[in-house]
Amino acid sequence: MAMNYSDAVMDHFTNPRNVGEIENASGCGTVGNAVCGDIMRIYLDIDDSGVIRDAKFKTFGCGAAIATSSMATELVKGKTVQEALEVTNKAVMEALDGLPPVKVHCSLLAEEAIHAALWDYAEKKGIKIEGLEKPVQDIGEHSHVEVVEDESEL
Ligand code: FES
Repeated sequence: MAMNYSDAVMDHFTNPRNVGEIENASGCGTVGNAVCGDIMRIYLDIDDSGVIRDAKFKTFGCGAAIATSSMATELVKGKTVQEALEVTNKAVMEALDGLPPVKVHCSLLAEEAIHAALWDYAEKKGIKIEGLEKPVQDIGEHSHVEVVEDESEL
């Protein structure tokens, strides 16, 4: 089965941004998907005013998982913790000009990794981030996968 990836996906896959680790990160989150076995870890450096100064990732996964981690870390940089919650899997997919339907779960991994990193930050700080729910470790537990229908991608 041939799959068509957008130029943006290919760009972020072949030249991923923000690969690496942040030592003593303000928050770090790891999530996986037991079905495909892919794992994503995102590190956030958050300053005293709650602005994400830096984001890095390590992803052991497919090309779409790498592209979505790359885009997700780009999108959260410079945002407040609250604004970062808007970086949903849908937002990441839109920024990448879409993903094939079978790859939607890869973008969900990026959303959940950001949530897990924010959750870790909030726990360390002893604060509550409004609207942030306790993240899942395995996105296979998720029932609501949001699919962006874009026929041109099929
Ligand atoms: Fe599972 Fe991409 S195939 S994250």
